[in-house]
Parts: sequence; C-alpha cells; structure tokens
Amino acid sequence: MTSQSVVYTLSFNSSVDNTFYLNSIRFDDINRIEKSRVDAGGKGLNVARMLNILSYPSQALTFLGGPNGTVLKKLLEDEKIPFRYVPIKGNTRSIFNFIAGKKVLRINEKGPLISKKEKDAFLNLIYSLKISKGDIVSISGSVPPGVEKDIYKKVIKKVKTKGVIVALDTDGDLLKEGIKEKPHIIKPNLWELNRIARRRISSFRTLKDILEHFISYGISTILLTNGENGAVLFSKKHFLYSKPPSVKVLSTIGCGDTFLAGFLYGYCKNKPQEECLRLAVAAGTAKVLKEGTSMPDRRNVMEIVKKVKVINASERTILPFFQ
Ligand SMILES: Nc1ncnc2c1ncn2[C@@H]1O[C@H](COP(=O)(O)OP(=O)(O)OP(=O)(O)O)[C@@H](O)[C@H]1O
Ligand SMILES: [Mg+2]
Repeated sequence: MTSQSVVYTLSFNSSVDNTFYLNSIRFDDINRIEKSRVDAGGKGLNVARMLNILSYPSQALTFLGGPNGTVLKKLLEDEKIPFRYVPIKGNTRSIFNFIAGKKVLRINEKGPLISKKEKDAFLNLIYSLKISKGDIVSISGSVPPGVEKDIYKKVIKKVKTKGVIVALDTDGDLLKEGIKEKPHIIKPNLWELNRIARRRISSFRTLKDILEHFISYGISTILLTNGENGAVLFSKKHFLYSKPPSVKVLSTIGCGDTFLAGFLYGYCKNKPQEECLRLAVAAGTAKVLKEGTSMPDRRNVMEIVKKVKVINASERTILPFFQ
C-alpha cells in the first residue's frame, strides 16, 4: 500500500454535538450549565476530523439537512474537513452530552427520516467514488430511520469488490449484519464485543476464543477497546495489549473514533502493528484531554505516542478488562 491511500469515512447519522459541563446532574431539580460547546459529531466525521489533524488524506461522506445541517456544514468547513454530502429534507440530528465530573449523560436523537431517494443518492455517491485498490472505507456509528440494519453489509460487499480495506465500528444489528461480509478491521469496545459474542467476556481464555473465532471467520484485525483499561490488537500474527497513560479526563466522547483514526493512520503508512496500536491508543488518549468532541492536535498525539507501551499478551498477562 502506498502513502497515497485515501480514507473514506461513511457517516449515515452525523450530528451536531452539544456538550454541557455542569457541577452535578440531578433529577427533579434545576441543573445549571457552567460551560457549553458545539462540535461536529458522529463517529465517521470524528474519524475524518482526526485524520485531517494528522494530515492524512481523507474524505468524509454524509447526509446534511435542515438547520442542523447548515450548522454542521459550517463546522466542517471551519475545520477544513474534505467532505461530500447528500442533501436531505429532514434535520441532521443533535446530540446532547451532559458532563459532571466523571459522570456523562448522553442523549442522542435518532436522526432524520431518510427517504429511499435520499438513501439511494448516498449509496450512489459511495459507489461512484474513484476508489483505488488499497484505499480505506471506514464505516462508523448508527443509521437514521429509513435506513435498514443490513445497509453496512450491502455497502461492505459492494466496496470490497473494488479492492478496498474496510473498517467497521458500530454496534448491535448493524455490527452483527456488517461482519457477515467480513470487513478487514472491526473496532468494538468490550460491551459491543459482549453483545456480538452474546456472552459476557470475563476471562483471558474466553476473550482469546472469541477473537480467534472472528479471525477464522475472515476478519483480519480486531481492535478491542475498553477505555482507560486499554486496548487489544488481535490478528493472525498478533495479540497485543496496550494500556493508555493515566490522564486528566475532560471528555471521553469520540475517543473510540480518534483511536480508530490513529490506527488507520499507522496502517496506511505501513507501520508495524505495534506502532499502529500505539498511535491508536495515543490518539484515543489525546482526545480525552479535550473538551466535548473537540479534537486534540497532532503534537498532543505524537507526545503521547512516546509514552504508550505495547506488550505481547499471553495467558500470563493480567488484562484489567475483567477486574
Ligand atoms: N479514561 C481514559 N484515559 C486514557 N485514555 C482513555 C480513557 N478513555 C478512553 N481512552 C482512550 O480512548 C480509547 C478508546 O476508548 P473507549 O474504549 O472508551 O472507546 P469507545 O467506547 O469506542 O468510545 P466512543 O465509541 O464513545 O468513541 C482507549 O483505548 C484509550 O486509548
Ligand atoms: Mg466506540
């Protein structure tokens, strides 16, 4: 793969992210907002935003509509994110994040109703991309009403015929259906992996069995994250574990997306897997130092990379996931 590979991020359900900082959150009482901010949101867009900061070529694809669509378009333009969109009748959704110390209350709108015509226009946009072999298609997040739960499966099947590498970061039925077409890379967090495996993963042995099952099924790399407890990279050749450095958390929202962007950055640059994991963890951890869904800068990420350790995991490794 050359460094010219482009990462296309697909965001079926992008958002305007509103983050409110409060001293506490109480029911049946008035909650006072100390500080607030508005960011571009939605997992796919966050991946593109982080890649842009790392100066890696990407293009974000999304729907935009209504007053929120106008706000989101401006946010993307201000951040100089290369993007293309399909205009829709409905209003791009809002996400509301309430943060009080370590507690986070996330309230997500479902998203606008997408008509068949709008959905087809988005699929046409994806399928008409001048994708080259070795480019990446990264699919993240939920889908809005009107879009079927096996849409990722259909998209993966189609784009894989063009020789692209597919990364999938989603949950529930979208993940369950999507993996049937064997995306190359998946990035579940521990809860998402529990759900897809239909069991509570509570030991090293069960984790390894499940990861091996995905590999034998045809997925090349599994990136498993578990917040401050660290992350695993599992592939045919590797079982790597990395614990992020301890940092002061301002907002964990979107850290899974910056983690994936960090990994893809290393992957596209043909870095060894250890280095890809190190970059991923650093990009995830650099994000938690930033408020709302604002992105860290390249320097933050590269400074943290130096502090991230990666080890080969074995039966003797104590993974903090299960404690
Ligand atoms: N408290 C924390 N301290 C340091 N790093 C963190 C913390 N929380 C998350 N991270 C970093 O972000 C990465 C991804 O975290 P996490 O497992 O929470 O992702 P996620 O659940 O997919 O998040 P989301 O989907 O909300 O973006 C971790 O591997 C780690 O590098
Ligand atoms: Mg996630």
